[in-house]
Amino acid sequence: MNILNNDKKTALLKIYQEFCNCFGHMEIVLGDGNQDSDIVLIGEAPGKDEVKQGKPFVGSAGKILQDFLDRSGITREDIYITNVMKYRLCRINEKTNNKVNRPTRKEDLENCRPYLIRELLVLSPKLIVPLGNVPLNALTDTGMKIGDVHGRVMDVEIEGKHFQVYPLYHPASLIYNRSLTETYHEDLEGLEKIIKTF
Ligand code: URA
Repeated sequence: MNILNNDKKTALLKIYQEFCNCFGHMEIVLGDGNQDSDIVLIGEAPGKDEVKQGKPFVGSAGKILQDFLDRSGITREDIYITNVMKYRLCRINEKTNNKVNRPTRKEDLENCRPYLIRELLVLSPKLIVPLGNVPLNALTDTGMKIGDVHGRVMDVEIEGKHFQVYPLYHPASLIYNRSLTETYHEDLEGLEKIIKTF
């Protein structure tokens, strides 16, 4: 590992430490993978399985994502995976008294987006892949819909730095809408082509 990589590691650790200091009372899952990768995938928020294993995308959505990555010859070690929200979004179900997932609120984005932006500036990947509407809008803040922009490269300026962004549907959307499978395959073929140019 060279000095630059060590700097990156230290800078990321600092960001994550600050996040944990602020939100240590929550169920936190930080980014994971190859910090020197050209590609960073961004999900919405960790769920129960992710909290248990301390890694993003290891539950049912993670299995779907893994299948697609396998087909594309991409391994988790090749990429970095993180979430916009680095804590589990949950509430107590009053009937069962169990924790259940809840949707993202405006305050979650306000809490977590600044850390995501700092994380991306440190990682400085060649390509950012937001998975679904929430990460897409955390990056662009335009209200654009994943259905309109998936599988297309966009230039996104973040804090004066230009990034190539290639949005994909969130893997969990395939659980509810199987008809997206073919589209997902096509979008991943596009991703493979982009990666080959790096
Ligand atoms: N697991 C994650 O880590 N993020 C998601 O967005 C969904 C599942």
